[in-house]
Amino acid sequence: MLAPDDLVWPLFAVPGERVRTPVKSMPGVFQLSVDELVAEAQAGFECGVRGVILFGVPEHKDAQGSGAYDDNGIIPRAVRALKLKVPGLVVMTDVCLCEYTDHGHCGVLRPPRAGGPGQDLTVDNDATLPLLAREAVAHAKAGADLVAPSDMMDGRVGALRRALDEAGFAEVPILSYAAKFAGAFYGPFRDAAESAPREGPGIPKDRKGYQMDPANAREAMREVALDVAEGADLLMVKPALPYLDIVRGVKERFDLPVAAYHVSGEYAMIKAAAERGWIDEDRVALETLLCCRRAGADFVLTYYARHAASLLTGIRR
Ligand code: PBG
Repeated sequence: MLAPDDLVWPLFAVPGERVRTPVKSMPGVFQLSVDELVAEAQAGFECGVRGVILFGVPEHKDAQGSGAYDDNGIIPRAVRALKLKVPGLVVMTDVCLCEYTDHGHCGVLRPPRAGGPGQDLTVDNDATLPLLAREAVAHAKAGADLVAPSDMMDGRVGALRRALDEAGFAEVPILSYAAKFAGAFYGPFRDAAESAPREGPGIPKDRKGYQMDPANAREAMREVALDVAEGADLLMVKPALPYLDIVRGVKERFDLPVAAYHVSGEYAMIKAAAERGWIDEDRVALETLLCCRRAGADFVLTYYARHAASLLTGIRR
């Protein structure tokens, strides 16, 4: 069974007003200024979409990703506007530094340890945790209904939980990107969020240092178990279709709601084939989302949310 309220719609917030910049590798997806994002979310809501997840592109990037934990940053501004103007919409926020750091990594960097392998900088897991915690609290203060850490640092769920509780947000749940694989399916997203790791001396080329190995299902289950122990309230598997075995495994093993993220590359593949007339876009999109549900996902994050909801309800906006 697939219903509109099984779908969560990712939206990209950018500074400015009346900005609606198409993302080239994701037809139908835009970078939106807050006013436009509110209008888009409202239209989605009218079609039956009940939840959105927000990603932000800040006005400035720096080595520490300070735009991520600014109480007046792009995401807090977007959250406040949505909570005011689209009552009833569940507003989730992605918690990560990669959109906010000038090097594009999900955490802060430090020089290699003396005697360690190679000359590359490495992501400083433990120095990143308090920054992520501040980011989550800034989102919660703005009114976020749920926070979703996607950075994949070890210990982040526990760090977020403690910080949220201390700040008076014990009731704000954490949707953990619990099993997030370091694959090739995130390319278009990095265009949309302007978050690809920069090329530069010493900067790690990819996220393999903190995201998971696509070949390893057992590691995935261990990672999920750690997030559960740290207090995750909901669990996500990402990407979706190539990892449906993981979705099913998580569903069977853990007694928490499970989400699948149908990611940017998966969306782009359907779009590209459909544009050539090679597949029936609407049918393939709905079948894809339905199969995520069949595999065990209680809900699906998808760029198709509004379109699929519209197909399911018959409401066009
Ligand atoms: C940030 C983040 C990414 C996605 C969601 N949160 C990209 C990444 O890890 O580089 C990808 C979503 C998509 O591809 O649709 N860490």
